[in-house]
Order: sequence, then C-alpha cells, then structure tokens
Amino acid sequence: DAFFAPISDAAPPSSTTRHIKISVVGTGNVGMAIAQTILTQDLADELALLDAKADKLRGEMLDLQHAAAFLPRTKILASTDYKVTAGSDLCIVTAGARQINGESRLNLLQRNVALFRQIIPPLVEHSPDTLLLIVSNPVDVLTYVAWKLSGFPSSRVIGSGTNLDSSRFRFLIADHLDVNAQDVQAYIVGEHGDSSVALWSSISVGGVPILSFLEKNAIAYEKETLENIHKAVVDCAYEVISLKGYTSWAIGYSAANLARSLLRDQRRIHPVSVLAKGLHGIDGEDVFLSLPALLGRGGVLGVTNVHLTEEETERLKESARTIMEVQNQLGL
Ligand code: NAD
Ligand code: LAC
Repeated sequence: DAFFAPISDAAPPSSTTRHIKISVVGTGNVGMAIAQTILTQDLADELALLDAKADKLRGEMLDLQHAAAFLPRTKILASTDYKVTAGSDLCIVTAGARQINGESRLNLLQRNVALFRQIIPPLVEHSPDTLLLIVSNPVDVLTYVAWKLSGFPSSRVIGSGTNLDSSRFRFLIADHLDVNAQDVQAYIVGEHGDSSVALWSSISVGGVPILSFLEKNAIAYEKETLENIHKAVVDCAYEVISLKGYTSWAIGYSAANLARSLLRDQRRIHPVSVLAKGLHGIDGEDVFLSLPALLGRGGVLGVTNVHLTEEETERLKESARTIMEVQNQLGL
C-alpha cells in the first residue's frame, strides 16, 4: 500500500513553480559557512556541494542532512563529479588555497588560477545559464579569470568583493555610535583587500550624511581618525586569520546576502566585484573590482553612478592598477 492515498483530481505541478538550485564548489571553512547560511535562510530548493576531497565532502553532506528536522526543506546533494551541479541557478566558488598568517590575498593567485582552470569549464558546461559568484581569493582577479574561462556575459559573473569589507566598515561605525549596522550606509569599493577604498562621503546613519553633519555642527574630525577606521577594516581579516586560522562566518552571511538579492530578484545595491572598465576613469584593460551594483535575477543589472571625490577617484584608479598588475602576470 502507498503511504499516502492518491488524490484523484490532483493537478500536476505547475510549470511556473520555481525550483532554485545553488551549487557550492569547495566545502572548506568558507563553503560550509555559506552552505549552512543558505539552508537556514531558506534560499534554495536544492543545494549541491562539490569538493575534491570525497570523504570530507560526504561527511559534510551527511552532517547537514541530519539537521533536516530543524530546517526548511532543501534537498542536499554532494559529489566530486560536476554532474551534481547540473542546472544550477547560482554557482558559488570557494575552492582554493587560503592565506596563512600575514600572507596577502594577492599571493594566492598562481595556485588558485590553476584550480580555476579545472573548475570553471565543467561548472559552466553543466549549468550554461547559471550566475557565477566567486569568493576564492584574490577574488577580483579570480572573478576576471572566471569571466574569461566561462565565456559568460560580465553581468553573470560577480565577485563577492567588498560586500564583506563594507559590512566590517558598517559594524565599526555602528559600534562607535551604538546603533544597528543595518541603519548605517557606507561603502568600501575597489579591491577586496589591501588597496580597498573607503567612500567617506557615502556614509549616512538613519539618512543623515555623517561628514556634512559634523561640518554643520562645527565638530572637528581628524582625517587620521577616518584613515584609522579604514585601516581597521583592512587589518581585521589578518587579525581573524592570525587568531582562528581563517575567516568564515562573515563571508558566509555576505555570500548568502548576495544569493538572496540575485535569486529573489531583490534589486538591492551591493558593493561587489564587477567589470569596471570605462567607469570612474578606469580605462585601459578589463578589470574587475567592487563598485555599488544593482543585483537581481539577471545578475548585475547596473552600477550606481556614485559621486566620488577627486581623492576617492585617484585611490580607486590606484586600486585598479594594483589588480591589473597582478592580472597581467597571468597571460590570459
Ligand atoms: P579551506 O582550505 O578550508 O577550503 C578550501 C576547499 O577547496 C577544500 O575543501 C579543498 O578540498 C577544496 N578544493 C581544493 N581544490 C579543489 C578542486 N580542484 N576542486 C574542488 N575543490 C577543491 O579554505 P577556506 O578557508 O574555505 O577558504 C577558501 C577560499 O576562500 C580561499 O581562497 C580564501 O582566501 C577565500 N576567502 C575569500 C573571502 C572573500 O571575502 N572573498 C573570505 C574568506 C575566504
Ligand atoms: C576575508 C578574506 C580572508 O575575510 O578575504 O576578508
């Protein structure tokens, strides 16, 4: 006997029912933090995990599946074979080497480019219509590499970029003012890393622009204080790595936050790594770096025409040059 008696006039599933599939490539610290955030936030109907280490991968899959009674329903699959990722709406790539204590993100380039040559072609072959979200470092250069290797339009290849740095920035400002970080608007743009650029003129708290508020009230602020807050943003990943060996929770939430905006067509503005050629005086070569971008189901729908001061523009161009110099070593 069937467990459930059939319903005679049941309608077949509607073709308009959306089935969302997310694949996570690389199930290390970062991949698993992203996977678990996706599950708790109910962002996918199907979650496929892929890694090169079969045992670790199966262990992670089982451990997540065992939480089924406490989570929204999501089918969780895992394999070392790219077939498991077939038909994904979003593929998030986190595989690769990570920094050791004091090492810069850019130093990971050669090792991770070699991996991307193995990862991106089969991934896009099995999901030709997917959006790609790149997380592995150095994320800006690897987003460029993924764009080149995939042959996708740049609107479908996004780097997690400074969405994370901006959250760190908002946290530090919110902590200082003792308000909720969600009420702090503030952007870090450029490279996700040492040459990132803080847009001081963009900071507002509850709709009040901070710099003009200080000026209007004749409250003196030291440029050095602002520089120190930005320095704290740049340094904090190094601090976490020196303390716990890697970063994971914040990038887990950052990537899930991007997945929601993309797959649920939220049209929210996030600082993420996009093809920036021709914007803000960045010309010459193709380069990916973070700028505030409008994200929806089609990927990057546009880039905000944010006003930059002359100094911010110069710093952004310098950040672009830093990325380009590293990129030029690739010969892609
Ligand atoms: P990890 O060592 O814990 O995990 C890396 C995983 O990649 C491992 O499970 C490994 O087996 C897998 N892998 C290696 N080669 C593979 C291949 N060819 N195919 C499939 N899987 C493969 O490292 P982690 O701490 O998870 O960090 C992963 C990456 O994310 C690093 O490059 C790190 O710098 C980066 N990261 C980026 C951000 C960001 O904001 N963009 C934040 C944190 C970490
Ligand atoms: C971060 C990684 C290391 O947490 O890029 O910023």
